[in-house]
Amino acid sequence: MSMRNCFWGLMMVGAFSAQAEVLTPHLGKPASKELLSAWSNDIFPDGTGLPAGQGTAAQGKVVYQQYCQNCHGPEGKGGSADELAGAAHGLKDNPPDKTIGTYWPYASTVFDFTRRTMPLDRPGVLSNDQLYAVTAYLLHLNNLLDQDRVLNAETLPTIPMPNRDGFVSNYPDGK
Ligand code: HEC
Repeated sequence: MSMRNCFWGLMMVGAFSAQAEVLTPHLGKPASKELLSAWSNDIFPDGTGLPAGQGTAAQGKVVYQQYCQNCHGPEGKGGSADELAGAAHGLKDNPPDKTIGTYWPYASTVFDFTRRTMPLDRPGVLSNDQLYAVTAYLLHLNNLLDQDRVLNAETLPTIPMPNRDGFVSNYPDGK
């Protein structure tokens, strides 16, 4: 490298590092506490985070037919999207039949997952009552809830899920 090129090279390095302190991508804006809390809405297996509201499977059937059936099929199976109920066999068969009833360890996840992501084409449209109702319907289709039992923040975490102990924990306390 000639002395002249070397000189310009050093000048460029100097220019970039001087600017680096003031340059930002100029994208977005700092997230406010309100914005963060709107996204921080996890629901835990013990029911922590569940909102007020309630619903039954009988009410949830109507919600399901309007918002879910197109993709998930009648009664949670036979659609283009994942099978949610009606497993023909269990997890130990080959291939395993994974539905909410055979696979999911916590009922609270059905509410949490649906609230975040479903219906896939317009998540966020369901009220908390509709979410409790459609969760109740999915549990009912999996023979885990009577159709008139009220699902709410107290009852949802008490639904015994068949595969509750089927997962291996990586946490030292085993939880
Ligand atoms: C436009 C199509 C569409 C609609 C409408 C829709 N879903 Fe889904 N759903 C999907 C697809 C696709 C997946 C798989 C997504 C993935 O694996 O990331 C899925 C996954 C799910 C799962 C997880 C299944 C599993 O075992 O992993 C649940 C639960 C679920 N949907 C519930 C609902 C409920 C409840 C509604 C109605 C409120 C609904 N979905 C409406 C397309 C849809």
